[in-house]
Amino acid sequence: MVKLEVMVENLFVPKTDDRKTIYDEIALQIKALVEDETDLIANLANITAVLKEAFGFFWIGFYLVKENQLVLNAFQGTTACTRIDFNKGVCGHCYTTRETIIVPNVDEFPGHIACASASRSEIVVPIFDKSGEVFGVLDIDSDKLNDFGEVDAEGLKKIIKIVEETVLQNIKTARRKAV
Ligand code: SME
Repeated sequence: MVKLEVMVENLFVPKTDDRKTIYDEIALQIKALVEDETDLIANLANITAVLKEAFGFFWIGFYLVKENQLVLNAFQGTTACTRIDFNKGVCGHCYTTRETIIVPNVDEFPGHIACASASRSEIVVPIFDKSGEVFGVLDIDSDKLNDFGEVDAEGLKKIIKIVEETVLQNIKTARRKAV
């Protein structure tokens, strides 16, 4: 099998408005970027950087389950809320329902937590560990109303699959080797 090498500064983003094409292309590059790295934050940080470069969304970040809350992890964008209770906000709703949540207008979502007033629409995708527990969520905010649809949900799920199957697996392998 030919291994796809990615020069970190040479991310290839197809020049098109078709988001599916972009998601398909960057998913391959994300896989190559994280494949040989065992550090969780390094990998999650690079994934947010790729999404930022590919789409220019206002805010992109991970919240991971820790101490019975969702705690801010790697992100690209403005300062954000550090901790979110499981029953609060869009992220908490994603955690409790275990579903991808698309919010076309954040002002109309009861309990939405506004980390930045520029945020107008949002998508949150759950990440599951091997035992089926929610490991965390990927949260993306746009400064445009109604910016997310099924194409984003599908594209982001593909990227989250790489997190679940490669990034989380790599941490386990590294832990096993360290013992
Ligand atoms: N809006 C989120 C909070 C996180 S920020 O958008 C970065 C929510 O309602 O859960």
